[in-house]
Formats: sequence, structure tokens, C-alpha cells
Amino acid sequence: PGEADLAGRHVVISAGGTREPLDPVRYLGNRSSGKQGFALARTAVARGARVTLIEANTGLPDPAGADVLHAGTAIQLREAVLKAAADADVVVMAAAVADFRPAEYATGKIKKKDGQEPAPIKLVRNPDILAEVAGERARPDQIVVGFAAETDDVLANGREKLRRKGCDLLVVNEVGERRTFGSEENEAVVLAADGGETPVPFGPKEALADTVWDLVSSRLG
Ligand code: C5P
Repeated sequence: PGEADLAGRHVVISAGGTREPLDPVRYLGNRSSGKQGFALARTAVARGARVTLIEANTGLPDPAGADVLHAGTAIQLREAVLKAAADADVVVMAAAVADFRPAEYATGKIKKKDGQEPAPIKLVRNPDILAEVAGERARPDQIVVGFAAETDDVLANGREKLRRKGCDLLVVNEVGERRTFGSEENEAVVLAADGGETPVPFGPKEALADTVWDLVSSRLG
């Protein structure tokens, strides 16, 4: 893997976490900081790629040299990713996409009423963007990479998820303890559909990003 091994390649990266609105002032969200996705964007730029970064609710400054798009919800993220994936060599889904969204959006702020139980929140499934991108393959030679945070049976669950989503590589994180959301470090195992298993020791998110690009680079035609 040389310095500009991604030159001439278009890579699409999603980062951050979606927010699913309940009413004009409230949402269901998650703790994803977006730092791993931004590290992937910075390292891809450094390796010569044309980078489209689709960012959801990170508040992080745009990385130099990347085209940055913004998406709030899973539905908006899906639209932006599918559009950008049309001419992408690589798609990396590092964003934490909400699995569910409120079935209804209240156009006015939901109010509490004295002496009344709160109304339950009904949820509906969001589309699985990773599975859709991997299943459609806008280009036959496209490489699709997913992320998965697991709390137990990390490798077995990761293998199963890799197969179910149909992606080429899956970066599996064990969540909990020091490996908290928002930290500057990460530790992971990268599983490959061809059977490969690459452990990445605890270290900066850039190091994990570079390992992902090494594995992607060796699989690009
Ligand atoms: O199923 P799970 O949420 O664990 O899968 C995580 C992977 O799938 C991540 O790469 C995430 O970006 C992607 N994902 C997605 N659309 C969803 C849920 C997850 O693309 N609705």
C-alpha cells in the first residue's frame, strides 16, 4: 500500500449518528461522535482519494480536501448515500443509523397534561442503508464496508452480520469500558467476506482507518 494508493478512486463515507425527530424540539438519537468516520475521510484524502463525506449531527469541522454533505435523519442519510454511491469505488458506512424512527411526527411540541399518562411512542423500522448499498452494487467492482458495535460474542455476531448485510468488510468493535463513544482511540477486528480476520490493537482512530484502507486497496481491481 503506497501513499497515493487511492488516487483516482471515489470513496463515500458516512459518519456520525442520525436523529429521528418526534416533534420540532425533540428527537431520538445516539452517542456516535463521528470521529472514526472523519478519521477515515482524512486518511483517504491523504492517500489520494476523492472523498465524499456524508455527516450526520457531528458538529465537527469539515475535513480539508473532502466534499462534505449533511444529513439529519436516516431517511436523509439514505438518500445522500445512495446518490453518492452511484459512481463510488468504495462505500464505508461508519455512521450510527437509527434502526427505528417515530411512526409519527408531531408538527407542534408534544405537551404534558396534568393527571394524564404520557402517550407511548410508536416506532417503525428505518431502511438498512448498508444492506441496500451492498445488495444493489451500483458498480459490480464496488467495495462496501460496514461497522458493527457488539457487546458479546463479538466475532460470531460480526461474521453473521457481515453475511446478512452482504458487505465485503465489517469492522467489529467491542463496546463498553474505555472503548467509549467519543474517544480518540479504537480497537477492532476487521472481518472480510473472503474469510480474512485482521485485529487492530487499541490505538488512534487514524490507525484503524489506515488498516481499513489497506484492506480496501488490496481488493480494488
Ligand atoms: O445492524 P447494525 O446497526 O448493527 O449495523 C451496523 C452497520 O449497518 C453500520 O455500518 C451502519 O452504518 C449500518 N446501518 C445502516 N442502516 C441502518 C442500520 C445500520 O446502514 N438502518
